[in-house]
Amino acid sequence: MANIDALTQQFIQQYGGEADGIAVFHAPGRVNLIGEHTDYNGGYVFPAALTFGTTLLIRKREDNKLGLATTNFPLSKQFAIDEIFYDAADDWMNYPKGIVNELKQTGVEFNNGYDLLYHGEIPNGSGLSSSASIEVVTAYALLNMEGLPTDTVKIALLSQKSENEFNGVQCGIMDQFAVANGKKDHAILLMCDTLEYDLVPFNSGKYKLVIGNTNKRRGLVDSAYNERRRQCEQAVEDLRGAFPELTLLGQISLEQFNSAKHLIKDDTVRARAQHVVEEIDRVLQSMAALKANDLEQFGRLMNGSHDSLRDLYEVTGPELDAMVAAAREVQGVLGSRMTGAGFGGCTVSLVHEDSIEAFKEEVGRKYTEATGLTADFYVCSIGNGVERLV
Ligand code: GLA
Repeated sequence: MANIDALTQQFIQQYGGEADGIAVFHAPGRVNLIGEHTDYNGGYVFPAALTFGTTLLIRKREDNKLGLATTNFPLSKQFAIDEIFYDAADDWMNYPKGIVNELKQTGVEFNNGYDLLYHGEIPNGSGLSSSASIEVVTAYALLNMEGLPTDTVKIALLSQKSENEFNGVQCGIMDQFAVANGKKDHAILLMCDTLEYDLVPFNSGKYKLVIGNTNKRRGLVDSAYNERRRQCEQAVEDLRGAFPELTLLGQISLEQFNSAKHLIKDDTVRARAQHVVEEIDRVLQSMAALKANDLEQFGRLMNGSHDSLRDLYEVTGPELDAMVAAAREVQGVLGSRMTGAGFGGCTVSLVHEDSIEAFKEEVGRKYTEATGLTADFYVCSIGNGVERLV
């Protein structure tokens, strides 16, 4: 957790004035345990909030300006609240700007401005949802400061809308939902079509979740991500020959899919759809495994998820594959997979607590041998969703 006194001093250095009137909010990053590339197909996901994320200090201004600054980079700027536009040169600031724009569209009337100072602890481009964390903490903080309701499901939806429309990234709902609604020591079983969800205690006993950062920047991720979405839409169109009402792949069972998949003409499109339908089934199987306290089965399902993302959905790449292969060779590892969009970013592994040091050493060494890159590891605890700290 960030040092709030030190951040308060930085806030005063940036914006002047006194500590009085500064409120402090926090939103986490997230890790997805299983259920990848299923959210925009109306399927299940099973993410959890991390204990680290974005801390935001905020204070009212007398005028109608928005001051944006971060402890992470020197870039800071002021904007008039009635003149908020996307500008690539504004970099990370387009996330908070998008939220202000979206709040205005939902009818929030700002009578005054705000100064905001962000402190981000999520490594950039790591696939642990730093952008969703910024969006959700901004929306929550502004609504709270305006004395308006802070419904965390609505906040997730408006944050996703802002990322889709203002920032032009076609993400699904998983990241914003997990960041907004997470709970300490629980993972979230979310049905992305209806947004029904369950907070499931994640008791992994002597096994810990270890995140491995490949430190491979996710270069082509946006175009490849959008291409996968289009392929899923194509599969739905073909399958309508058998299921005329179908709008999302998540609406059919694995059995129904297998009986009709010959209708999908293109081999690649069929493979993409096969991944989605089987992955949704794996999420449900993983719930049964958790209920039965069968962590070994949970680990096998994690492995199955990665292999399918590698072979059928083709979103892993050499770095993620090398890290996962090395992880599975360590004794005491029950499962290992990529997490997030893919092409780089992070893996998540279920590792016995006595094996963690060996895991870091062996996976780190083999990963560097295979790729020339240096990995980072975080032993992960599950934290709360967005909240006000001060
Ligand atoms: C990214 C997106 C999510 C989800 C995952 C893949 O994290 O932001 O909406 O689609 O990829 O599961």
